[in-house]
Amino acid sequence: MFDVNKIRSDFPILSRKVNGQPLVYFDNAATSQTPVQVIDVITDYYTRLNSNIHRGVHKLSQEATEAYEAARKTIQNHFNAAHAHEIIFTAGTTESINLIATGYTNILQPGDELLISALEHHSNIVPWQMLCERTGAILKVIPMTQLGTLDSNAFETLLNEKTRLIFVNHVSNALGTVNPIEEIIQKGHAVGAEVLIDGAQACPHIKPDVQALDADYYVTSAHKLCGPTGVGMLYGKSSLLNQLPPYQGGGEMIATVTFEKTTYADLPHKFEAGTPNIAGGIAFGAALDYMNSIGFEAIATYEATLLDYATEALLKIPGLKIYGEAPEKTAVISFNVEGIHPYDIGSILDQMGIAVRTGHHCAQPIMDFYQIPGTIRASFSFYNTKEEIDRLVVGLQKAIAMLQ
Ligand code: ALA
Repeated sequence: MFDVNKIRSDFPILSRKVNGQPLVYFDNAATSQTPVQVIDVITDYYTRLNSNIHRGVHKLSQEATEAYEAARKTIQNHFNAAHAHEIIFTAGTTESINLIATGYTNILQPGDELLISALEHHSNIVPWQMLCERTGAILKVIPMTQLGTLDSNAFETLLNEKTRLIFVNHVSNALGTVNPIEEIIQKGHAVGAEVLIDGAQACPHIKPDVQALDADYYVTSAHKLCGPTGVGMLYGKSSLLNQLPPYQGGGEMIATVTFEKTTYADLPHKFEAGTPNIAGGIAFGAALDYMNSIGFEAIATYEATLLDYATEALLKIPGLKIYGEAPEKTAVISFNVEGIHPYDIGSILDQMGIAVRTGHHCAQPIMDFYQIPGTIRASFSFYNTKEEIDRLVVGLQKAIAMLQ
């Protein structure tokens, strides 16, 4: 049984007040909140295990290494990767994408084509532009529609034998659109391209199976799914990861070092130079355990009721327009109210203890497409309630009355 009140009691932050009001946290697409089960794991790490991993002969180091590698295994199982060494710990989605984009510098040829979707976050645009500058490859954009979906006919027209890489988010952070990644991967593979999926916004809502998807690379961040900031993962097929050079040089990514020549460690360590975010990696595993204990089907079903309830309630507000009306979307609503700047509404909602994000959401091309400076984004999680949505609606009505 899905018991939202019991779930809420796992999140200490949800009982704090903001500006004298009980917090309503609707900025989950920026960062999710952290349950006590994950906070306890971080505390336990620094209380009992703190040491460096993969290095020590001593007990603490061995126990910390075991916990870190167990977390890698948990992540492998969650995403159904074929091997634990195909899971690389990174600082988050942005670093995962930069690692791959840097790795292709000596693989691409001038004139090779890279396909990107119009729905991307800046972190899945800029590293590829930088790669194109280094290599002479050409970046082409799969256009979007007014509904906030990708234009699949245009995608097929853009595909050709020069297409080497395709990058698409599984879910748009700004609009919540769920993209047809199975189809994109399949069609990309048919022309010999490799496909990277940015899963940062999908993973809090959907449990991806990287083998069933046949994704070449799948990346995400722990802090979107109840884990800590500063840690994430890169999944890559080992055949592809093995052909890429290391991203950073340093300790623990080597097999042998002499001043004449260094040889590199095998996967995953080749890509994990230096001391990692050990507590963060262990807590990432704990966050997945926590979310799986609730169950992704239960989460999706509950969040869909929140999305429907909020969409219906918000659309009753005169002058309110929702951006992103894809038939399949996660519990994210981006909207504006006619004649009012999103920032002004966001600031007044904050005074009422309601946290939303306003602005371009690091997806300026989407805002340019709609010819708007930004939106107000309410992004829901499985620990939100319909009562909180009621407070958002009342808060919006008051803000509009003040600003109009
Ligand atoms: N990418 C995060 C967001 O959409 C920060 O808010």
